[in-house]
Amino acid sequence: MTYNNSHNPTTLVLGGTGRRVAQRLTALGRPVRIGSRSGEPPFDWQDRATWPGLLEGVGSVYVSYYPDLAVPGAVETVGAFARLAVDRGVPRLVLLAGRGEPETELAEQAVCQSGAELTILRSTWFSQNFSEDYLLDPVLGGEVVLPAGDTPEPFVDADDIADVAVAALTRDGHIGELYELTGPRLLTFAQAVDEIAKATGREIRYVPVSIDEYAAAAASQGVPAEVVELLSYLFSEVLDGRNAHVTNGVQRALGRQPRDFADYARATAASGVWDLAIASGVQP
Ligand SMILES: NC(=O)c1ccc[n+]([C@@H]2O[C@H](COP(=O)([O-])OP(=O)(O)OC[C@H]3O[C@@H](n4cnc5c(N)ncnc54)[C@H](OP(=O)(O)O)[C@@H]3O)[C@@H](O)[C@H]2O)c1
Repeated sequence: MTYNNSHNPTTLVLGGTGRRVAQRLTALGRPVRIGSRSGEPPFDWQDRATWPGLLEGVGSVYVSYYPDLAVPGAVETVGAFARLAVDRGVPRLVLLAGRGEPETELAEQAVCQSGAELTILRSTWFSQNFSEDYLLDPVLGGEVVLPAGDTPEPFVDADDIADVAVAALTRDGHIGELYELTGPRLLTFAQAVDEIAKATGREIRYVPVSIDEYAAAAASQGVPAEVVELLSYLFSEVLDGRNAHVTNGVQRALGRQPRDFADYARATAASGVWDLAIASGVQP
């Protein structure tokens, strides 16, 4: 594959994984604009008036919707954004989506119908949920309580997602592709937590609970109702074994194997993010 250097337009990047994509594009000398509610000008999925300004002078967009393409309203919102982008002369979109979610596939179709030059990254659970998202506090607390049963998932590294996104944004040959992105190995949540315990040298255990117990506990801890609803959906509907197989999406897009969860756990432990003294701000 060759770099498409015929022009060097700005890429608008959205969402948490968008930051990783932005770092990589910047390292390649590509101009980047980050879409953020605190940006100047701001970008807000819930305020369509903020969209046109961000699309000005842009040649491609990395689209990561918040909180999830499966939530009510997402299909309309992300479809409207894609149509606006194409109307404004932005040809190239790379869409991050979830794997095995029928609602999300409707959102993919809505984006596809915009006529954009589209690449879809259909991703499984991110490894980084344990270090950068809602599972970080449970890992620090030594107990990961989830309604995940013993269904295995092929956790994928967010760095691999970003690498595929950058390939799709900068190189020829990815338009029209749908990459299903997984790691190289199936792990249950219990096995994933064991890998983290091994890497940190700390005692951390996985505690399986029912969906109802999980939802009640989350609500009592002040987790917003829509987040409880989304997590309950993901843990019940999507974690039913439908995604319990690895795919070759990373290999197909990048010509290399995806990163294993154990490598993620070792590197993340070494970064100190799971170190209790560092996390609590106490000097060792
Ligand atoms: N986590 C997983 O395991 C997983 C698996 C498969 C697919 N996915 C998909 O990945 C996507 C999210 O992943 P991600 O890591 O890229 O993003 P993310 O980390 O979930 O995105 C968080 C960022 O979104 C921004 N945000 C929040 N509300 C917003 C709004 N109303 N308008 C614009 N931006 C808003 C915030 O940035 P600012 O505060 O700067 O605005 C926030 O930092 C979802 O669509 C999800 O379905 C996730």
